[in-house]
Amino acid sequence: MIDDIRRIAAAASDRIAAAGTIEELSTLDRELLGKTSELTGFKRQMGGLDPDDRRTVGAALNEAREGLQAAVAARRQELEAIAAKQRAAAERLDLTEVRAGRDAGHLHLITQSFEELEDIFVGLGFTVAEGPEVDDDWHNFTALNFGKHHPARDMQDTFFVDLGEPREVVMRTHTSPVQVRVMESQVPPIYSVMPGRVYRNEATDATHLAVFHQLECLVVDEGITFGHLASTIDRFTKAYFGPGYNTRLRPAYFPFTEPSAEFDVQRPDGSWLELGGCGMVHPNVLSNCGIDPEVHTGFAFGFGVDRLAATRYGVTDLRELTSPDVRFLEQF
Ligand code: DAH
Repeated sequence: MIDDIRRIAAAASDRIAAAGTIEELSTLDRELLGKTSELTGFKRQMGGLDPDDRRTVGAALNEAREGLQAAVAARRQELEAIAAKQRAAAERLDLTEVRAGRDAGHLHLITQSFEELEDIFVGLGFTVAEGPEVDDDWHNFTALNFGKHHPARDMQDTFFVDLGEPREVVMRTHTSPVQVRVMESQVPPIYSVMPGRVYRNEATDATHLAVFHQLECLVVDEGITFGHLASTIDRFTKAYFGPGYNTRLRPAYFPFTEPSAEFDVQRPDGSWLELGGCGMVHPNVLSNCGIDPEVHTGFAFGFGVDRLAATRYGVTDLRELTSPDVRFLEQF
């Protein structure tokens, strides 16, 4: 009986060493050491042996079991190491590799989107202006008709730059302060767009980022009407997305425009994307910037570029736009 046990154990040990996958090994483990295995069968026969034989057969059985259990554990470790190596090889990314027929890198989706939007507006006769990301209370709020204690200041969760009281320096919460800078430094007619990065002190999720991007549009001239605003929004939307997209305006409130509206873009499937705000530039804002509201009127709008690009390219989680993963970035 002891010879049988040793023979069976040796054969089992060879099969364990030859197991090619972890699944195969688990099946073998059950077959060779489980309740219905040959080795377990010997245990049942032991009852019929005399006590001396029972002791030696028992010892041989234990030795065989322990040897096989150790063999299974050792083979499992080997197979796991092989699997880990294969996984690492499959997921390996060589960030220094330059692949034939392909540039070493390209502009980020957001940069591409800004360039495309700027091209569209330049084609409509606009110029492009930029302003600082760290700005003062005057440009971000006060000149835009947010009074010192205006509740709308709370609408925009602001990051303040820690320079002590009074808290006068902010990370701009929108690109609208660039409107102020353009109006302060130029005389009408003004036809400008202002792309840039903005900051909000709020939690990020699939549809919100604390650092995101906006494009602002400002027109100041004689005889500018709400009709010019609505048609400009519709023109740029169709130019960016294609003719199947429509726009609508909904009444809203912003301190720096009167009347104000929010604008939505309708996708070909009928669903709506809330994109931005707009309105006729408030007379107080024109005066704050040295422009006579009796002579000039204007419209403005601003929208989130991350959302715009995400909609067009089917990015469902805005946080992906901040990912450094080339597998994401390469798609655009
Ligand atoms: N600055 C606004 C925001 O970030 C958006 C906006 C609303 C811009 C109305 C405008 C405007 O130019 O006229 O929420």
